[in-house]
Amino acid sequence: MDKILIIGAGGQLGAELTLALAKVYGDEHVIATDIKNGDHTAAFARFEVLDVMDAERLAALVDENKITQIYHLAAILSATGEKNPKLAWKLNMDGLINVLDVAKEKQLDKIFWPSSIAVFGPTTPADLTPQHTIMDPNTIYGISKLAGERWCEYYFQKYNVDVRSLRYPGLIGYKSPPGGGTTDYAVDIFFKARTGDAYTCFLNKDSYLPMMYMPDAIRATIDLMEAEKSHIKVRSSYNVSAMSFSPEEIASAIQQIIPTFKITYEPDFRQAIADSWPNAIDDQEAKRDWGWRPQYNLDSMTADILHHLK
Ligand code: SER
Repeated sequence: MDKILIIGAGGQLGAELTLALAKVYGDEHVIATDIKNGDHTAAFARFEVLDVMDAERLAALVDENKITQIYHLAAILSATGEKNPKLAWKLNMDGLINVLDVAKEKQLDKIFWPSSIAVFGPTTPADLTPQHTIMDPNTIYGISKLAGERWCEYYFQKYNVDVRSLRYPGLIGYKSPPGGGTTDYAVDIFFKARTGDAYTCFLNKDSYLPMMYMPDAIRATIDLMEAEKSHIKVRSSYNVSAMSFSPEEIASAIQQIIPTFKITYEPDFRQAIADSWPNAIDDQEAKRDWGWRPQYNLDSMTADILHHLK
């Protein structure tokens, strides 16, 4: 029987993924954890406070609950990471290694750990970025994700830890706020549009970035985790792609539904981060190995979000 521990369940992805996993595996089999109790944690059937830096408590929770799988989502993202690089490095690396070690010692079935398009950098080919290519990230978040990918592959090869990973693009949802990333504008913009406010975007109007609507991200994650072990050929992290757009294009998609919506542009330090990331990602290996297919594009996502935010 699968028994799942989620670390970082209060975050943008965790809040939705936890509820999706509880639907698949049952409330009793999903234990949500986060560093603190927050707005989202009340929605979880089972919740425990856990700081992933506390390896002893992590091991105790795994034992007490007979955990077989961990989804380790806690991290400091790209924009926040630049404000305190050493803290971002420490949390992102030590947290992952604590999880990999507990998986190895207790012979857990599977681990999920998210990587990101942030593993790419300024000299990576920006259009249809291949799975295997130049990786020269220049944010501390990207550096920690690239190092994390190497740790995951290392634990798989040396210790047979079945750790699986996706390089998420910017994730866009309306149920839970994003936490300190460069792609957050594509979430904030919908809330401004819905309340009738103008939006001041912190990126330039023509900054293309790869993005994905949350229902696709949840499905990609669960599909990857449920795939046959022998089908998982990439043990660093899979490129996954759904759509790419610029701030100008998402504003125009919103204006199709809310014609009075207005946007202005005041790029800040996040512009340099966006400039170092790809425009669009080639995800043919995910498609081939475990059947990945996105369902939402910019227009269908925009219509769905604005419908739900009414
Ligand atoms: N959405 C993340 C960020 O902007 C990228 O993984 O930091």
